[in-house]
Amino acid sequence: MTRFEPSDNCLKDKVILVTGAGAGIGREAAIHYAKYGATVILLGRTTEKLEQVYDEIEALGAPQPAIIPMDLQHLSEEHAQQIADKIEQEFGKLDGLLNNASILGTLTAIEQYSYDTWQQVMQVNVNSVFLLTKHLIPVLRKADQSSVIFTSSGVGNQGRAYWGAYSVSKFATEGACSSFIR
Ligand SMILES: NC(=O)c1ccc[n+]([C@@H]2O[C@H](COP(=O)([O-])OP(=O)(O)OC[C@H]3O[C@@H](n4cnc5c(N)ncnc54)[C@H](OP(=O)(O)O)[C@@H]3O)[C@@H](O)[C@H]2O)c1
Repeated sequence: MTRFEPSDNCLKDKVILVTGAGAGIGREAAIHYAKYGATVILLGRTTEKLEQVYDEIEALGAPQPAIIPMDLQHLSEEHAQQIADKIEQEFGKLDGLLNNASILGTLTAIEQYSYDTWQQVMQVNVNSVFLLTKHLIPVLRKADQSSVIFTSSGVGNQGRAYWGAYSVSKFATEGACSSFIR
C-alpha cells in the first residue's frame, strides 16, 4: 500500500475556502490546508469558533487566514455573489472550495418529518452549495488549476431508514459532483 505524504508547503500560494470551518472536519481541513501553506478562508455561522481556528492557524505561523461569517441557512444569490466579489478583490483568485458545512436534521419516519426541518436541511446542504459553487466558479477559473470538493456521506448513495432529508441531500450532493463540474 502506498502512503501519500504531501510535501511541506505543497499548498503554498493557494487560496482555499472552507465552509463550516469552525468545527469538525471543516476545522481540521482548514488547519491542515494552512499547515501546508495555503491561505484559508474560514466560512461559518459562529464567529467565535472561526476566530478560534484563526488563532490556531496564526499560532502555527501559517499564512494569515480570513474569516467570512455567514449563516448558510440565509444564503441568497446576492450573498453568494458578494462573497465571490470579496474573494476576487482580496485574493484575485480561488484555488479550492471545500463545500463541507451540513446539518443532520432529524432521524425519523416521513409522517413525523417536519417540513421546516426538511427545508433547513435542503437549504444548508444543497441550495447553499449550489449558490456558492455557481458564484465562485468565475473566481476559481482565475487560478491555474482549481478544485471543488463536495462532502457526501455513506447515506449519499445508499439510503437508510429514517435518515430522511440528510440522506436525500447527500444523494443530491453526489449528483452535483457529476452534473455541475467538468
Ligand atoms: N462526522 C461524520 O462522521 C460524517 C460522516 C459522513 C459525512 N460527514 C459530512 O462531513 C461534513 C462535516 O461533518 P462534521 O461531522 O465535521 O460536522 P460538524 O462537526 O457538525 O460541523 C459542521 C460545521 O458546519 C457548520 N454549519 C452548520 N450549519 C451551518 C450554517 N447554516 N451556516 C454555516 N455553517 C454551518 C457548523 O457550524 P457551527 O460550528 O456554528 O455549528 C460546523 O462548523 C458534513 O458535510 C457531513 O455531512 C460527516
